[in-house]
Amino acid sequence: MKGIILSGGTGTRLYPLTKVTSKQLLPVYNRPMIMYPLDTLLKAGINEILIIVSPEHAEDYGKLLGDGGEFGCRIVYKVQDKPEGLAQAFILGQEFIGNDSVCMILGDNIFEDDFSGVIKNFKSGGQVFAKAVTDPERFGVVKFNDKMQAVKIEEKPKEFLSNFAITGLYIYDNRVAEVAKQVKPSARGELEITELHNWYLTRGELKVDLVKGEWVDAGTFESLFHAGELMRRKATG
Ligand code: TTP
Repeated sequence: MKGIILSGGTGTRLYPLTKVTSKQLLPVYNRPMIMYPLDTLLKAGINEILIIVSPEHAEDYGKLLGDGGEFGCRIVYKVQDKPEGLAQAFILGQEFIGNDSVCMILGDNIFEDDFSGVIKNFKSGGQVFAKAVTDPERFGVVKFNDKMQAVKIEEKPKEFLSNFAITGLYIYDNRVAEVAKQVKPSARGELEITELHNWYLTRGELKVDLVKGEWVDAGTFESLFHAGELMRRKATG
């Protein structure tokens, strides 16, 4: 299993914090934000990692994380020229993924869960994780049937679909890069990851589990502050 950390984007919701630096390098308590998703991949036993970055900040990531030796992994980098959507990561990463499966995590997502069991047992298809939230309209949203099987997934639904957000950790088999190449840009001009989920869902090959522990998408002032507070509590007991 290869790992990708998607760490480009513009971070406009955190402006002016992101005027001169990348969102995923901002402090979350005592560490730069990206160290948390990096830990999640390492904890899950993934040790070959591609970090996708924006052109302006590529050098800073290299300075912080180097070739990964310090963390017992191999890190390589790829620049995403423009933030053209989450699904683009699999096209940019196709060569890196090679013949393996891939676990992608968003550089601003912080998870408490340990995904090592899921990753060890993953064989084929897709696997994503949902969490009940109070603001589902910010996310991709999944509707379950009464057996807790996913029946529908929609990106930022305008009408209430459910309160289960799809979190920013996605596991896919090797077909994902070719599937991503078929995706057309959405109305907002992005290659939507929801289209990939739906490709697997319509074939009966998407598994959606629930996240058990805390999960924070640290992309807003409120959630960034909350993430810092959460990590402070964990670090200081
Ligand atoms: P978002 O939070 O949706 O976008 P953003 O980081 O640009 O922030 P804002 O909406 O405030 O402008 O992105 C989620 C994660 O994915 C985040 O870690 C940035 C990353 N990302 C990319 O690396 N490339 C992309 O094309 C997009 C859309 C996001």
